[in-house]
Amino acid sequence: MKQPWNDYGGRLSPLKLAVFIALFAPALWVMVAFPLGWLGARPTNEAIHQIGLWALRLIFIALAITPLRAVLQWQRLILVRRMVGVAAFSYAITHLLLYAASEAFDLVKVASEIVLRIYLTIGFAALLGLSALAATSTDGMVRRLGRRWQMLHRLVYLIALLAVIHYWMQSKLEIWEPTIMAGIYVWLMGYRLLARRLAVRGRLPLAWIGALGLVVGVLTAAGEALYFRLAYGADPGRVIEANWSLILGLRPAVVVLGLGLLVTLAGLLRPLIGAPAKGRPRFA
Ligand code: HEM
Repeated sequence: MKQPWNDYGGRLSPLKLAVFIALFAPALWVMVAFPLGWLGARPTNEAIHQIGLWALRLIFIALAITPLRAVLQWQRLILVRRMVGVAAFSYAITHLLLYAASEAFDLVKVASEIVLRIYLTIGFAALLGLSALAATSTDGMVRRLGRRWQMLHRLVYLIALLAVIHYWMQSKLEIWEPTIMAGIYVWLMGYRLLARRLAVRGRLPLAWIGALGLVVGVLTAAGEALYFRLAYGADPGRVIEANWSLILGLRPAVVVLGLGLLVTLAGLLRPLIGAPAKGRPRFA
């Protein structure tokens, strides 16, 4: 049987091994923290949150591999994309199991809540989509489905959007990280749209990546201001102004802008490290 930490040639891949181990870390942390009472007064609820958050973060990490691979000219990154995607699915299923546990495994109640609460219905739709991707992630399915595999796996764009909406809807006032996630989502999709039209030999010119970071930073600030206006009637000017000060900490738009510029900077510095490795692993 093929080991998850081996590359296509059956050799141990240090990158795959490191990522494989790292993917267990958040779940291990929750498994240790839970019995030790480190998850607060409502540990099951906290575990639902932490595991759900990691499901979403892992989907984003999987989506970030395509742009990072091109910007860093690090072809081997593709070797870990499937592993990260399957881990996202495992975290999402665990998230649902924990939710069922919090409802004392009253499955009728769980099902009716999923039907009646729109944010749970959206989460469920995302989970169904992730299940379809996980079920078709074996080598055999990749071969069998051929080009249809790629088309099916584009579902991940919709799944990520549904997961962000699910996150947003349950967040109420605490929208710092959901806003960052929404901004990163726009960046990831924007990158793909631009790359499809403007990529030169598979790489989007860095000027476009820098411009994308700026535009998405501005959109994140505008989106946050709009949200506070619609939800709480807050003055959009004051919400925008908060981006210039550190009194409320780093605002989501600043974080998103910073991440976009960091990717651009990484692309600028990449040639200093040397020529990219030859060879193009297809997938893993
Ligand atoms: C049947 C499917 C799902 C159910 C029943 C479900 C249920 C829940 C519940 C009950 C909460 C906590 C709400 C609260 O405390 O008010 C939650 C939060 C969350 N869920 Fe889900 N969820 C599902 C699918 C998903 C999926 C597929 C993802 C991501 C891929 C996801 C990501 C999240 C995130 C990020 C949070 C917020 C975590 C935080 O606030 O720290 N969920 N979900």
